[in-house]
Amino acid sequence: MTSPLPIVRTPAELRGAVRAWQQAGRRVAFVPTMGALHAGHLALVTKGLEQADVAVASIFVNPKQFGEGEDLARYPRDEAGDAVKLAGAGCSLLYAPDVATMYPPGFASFVRVGGLPDLLCGRVRPGHFDGVATVVAKLLGAAQADVAVFGEKDWQQLAIVRRMAADLDIATRIIGCGIVRDDDGLALSSRNAYLSADERARALALPRALLATRSAILAGMPVAAALAAGERSIKAAGFARLDYLELVDGETLHSLGSPAPAARLMAAGVIGTTRLIDNIAL
Ligand code: PAF
Repeated sequence: MTSPLPIVRTPAELRGAVRAWQQAGRRVAFVPTMGALHAGHLALVTKGLEQADVAVASIFVNPKQFGEGEDLARYPRDEAGDAVKLAGAGCSLLYAPDVATMYPPGFASFVRVGGLPDLLCGRVRPGHFDGVATVVAKLLGAAQADVAVFGEKDWQQLAIVRRMAADLDIATRIIGCGIVRDDDGLALSSRNAYLSADERARALALPRALLATRSAILAGMPVAAALAAGERSIKAAGFARLDYLELVDGETLHSLGSPAPAARLMAAGVIGTTRLIDNIAL
């Protein structure tokens, strides 16, 4: 089957295509993904096209951001299906390099953002955000697009990418895109595909706890008590593990003991064998 949108597989081809659009006076939006695309990813393309004339997506399941025992081998892959979805969303080019192109023999560089990666998800996924920062630096460097769009579901990732782009003088403007949820409130995630029907139903405890905790805090309950009640409800729903339910500053990700402007409620936990994350603004 021929692909409904052009696919390039090397950084030079990607740069060449983006440069040609830019030289023709067109602004380019870049959407990095790991594939297994859902409506949340397609919203990133739509957001990009609000800010630019052309959208380019990448698909690369980045081994450097998976820890030992994580789901690298079983991570869903469907390049042909993803290409159809991207074309339908108005994307003009797909960059899909292989591992040997991204990390050839002798590859020896790592990008590590200080501080932020040690918090929240970083406490249970050591090294994860170094892998993310490294691959995002490579992707942004190869594309040199005008804007790049990242989903707010991975709020910590977005904060780290913003920090890195500012620190390293990356000219591409980083844009966040709001979380897309199923009708019942579960945030869309490629990993939702791992959930059984029963786990899918119980996973709703995560967004519901975020909403209930926010309501409690806004109604004046002390933050610690509201978080404790939220934690109890997530555990009662049968989550095998709750990694955190925390109120944090949206930029520094530091824990907050009382409501503040730009505060964000963040949660992560494991249901069955699937780790889910979610967050909402306070
Ligand atoms: O959010 C993701 O899909 C990935 O972490 C990213 C940003 C594409 C880097 O591999």
